[in-house]
Amino acid sequence: MSQLNWGILATGSIAKKFALGVTTSNTGSLAAVGSRSIENAEAFAKEHGIGTAHGSYDDLLANPDVEAVYIATPHPSHEKWTVKAAEAGKHILCEKPIGMNYRQAKVMSDAAKANNITLMEAFMYRCHPQTAKAVEIVKSGAIGEINIIQASFGFRVPFDPQKRHYNNALGGGGILDVGCYPASFARLMAGAALGQPFAHPLELTSHGHLSPETGVDLYTIANLKFENDILAQLATSVSVPQQSYARVYGTEGYIEISNPWIISPEGGDWEFHIKRPGKKEDEVVRGNDPRRLYGIEADHFCAVVNGEELQAPGMSTEDTFSNMKTLDLWRETICLRYDYE
Ligand SMILES: NC(=O)c1ccc[n+]([C@@H]2O[C@H](COP(=O)([O-])OP(=O)(O)OC[C@H]3O[C@@H](n4cnc5c(N)ncnc54)[C@H](OP(=O)(O)O)[C@@H]3O)[C@@H](O)[C@H]2O)c1
Repeated sequence: MSQLNWGILATGSIAKKFALGVTTSNTGSLAAVGSRSIENAEAFAKEHGIGTAHGSYDDLLANPDVEAVYIATPHPSHEKWTVKAAEAGKHILCEKPIGMNYRQAKVMSDAAKANNITLMEAFMYRCHPQTAKAVEIVKSGAIGEINIIQASFGFRVPFDPQKRHYNNALGGGGILDVGCYPASFARLMAGAALGQPFAHPLELTSHGHLSPETGVDLYTIANLKFENDILAQLATSVSVPQQSYARVYGTEGYIEISNPWIISPEGGDWEFHIKRPGKKEDEVVRGNDPRRLYGIEADHFCAVVNGEELQAPGMSTEDTFSNMKTLDLWRETICLRYDYE
């Protein structure tokens, strides 16, 4: 199996988790880290056993040992650093949401194509075998004809207008931060039901509550309609301690995933349940993967870089475009516009 030398761009909370993940992957090694501050880069490099620390993102991109860059800055700067990384000839795994909107996603994809590199949006749960298994079950017809999908991802972060979750200039709010997960799940499962890698909603309606202080979305619920009258109900927030769940309801039963997003973060066992009308006992679908969640993602990305055909639930460019268009619409229906827009 081919190997990939990673450069980590930014040293925040998810960058740390990704670096830990790479150490459990089969294909990745940590070549370098870049930060806006050399002190942060050096501290991060020491913590994760990385040989080279750069005091700027540009220096990281100029490092010839770096084959792939993991972009872990707040969402508004994903576009800028993806375009620069593509121009530097690096493969790019860019954190979700890939950009602030579809328009930025398109610019990023064009830059990737022009420079002949692989660009993928980092939806780690899409790379995990648990998600692939759920897709397989839906496709097989084992729970009948799919009618309803429900998915939720939200949490409560103490209000701080400077923090990225609430900060307008940093793309705060639930939809972009975590609403992107339920949206991507519903599109994936509707697609599986329709025999496609993903589906795009025909209609979307929603309600939401915006922060009076910073204008970002604090909590919001959306209803989506897909082809064949497949309906989805999505919820997200940054101010409400919501339960994470994902359910796919068919005419013969439903899949209940109680841990759909941050699946076995440290590696190990995973499971979800199938519930059937009239049956007391759930069917339990189980698996095990020793790699950390983000290590699985790093291996998945390496396989794509090495020419393995990308299959759903892996995140293709068209899938990313559909997700960003869905998020654009969700934001539009609750009148959420960022100050820069
Ligand atoms: N896939 C997942 O599970 C997951 C989980 C959490 C977040 N994310 C995504 O990852 C991205 C980063 O989230 P995070 O939670 O890691 O954020 P974070 O803890 O705030 O870290 C962001 C990092 O970006 C860099 N940065 C560059 N410009 C910045 C600016 N203007 N303000 C603040 N930081 C800036 C900083 O690194 P330096 O100081 O080193 O330059 C900072 O440490 C977001 O797009 C988010 O959606 C994904």
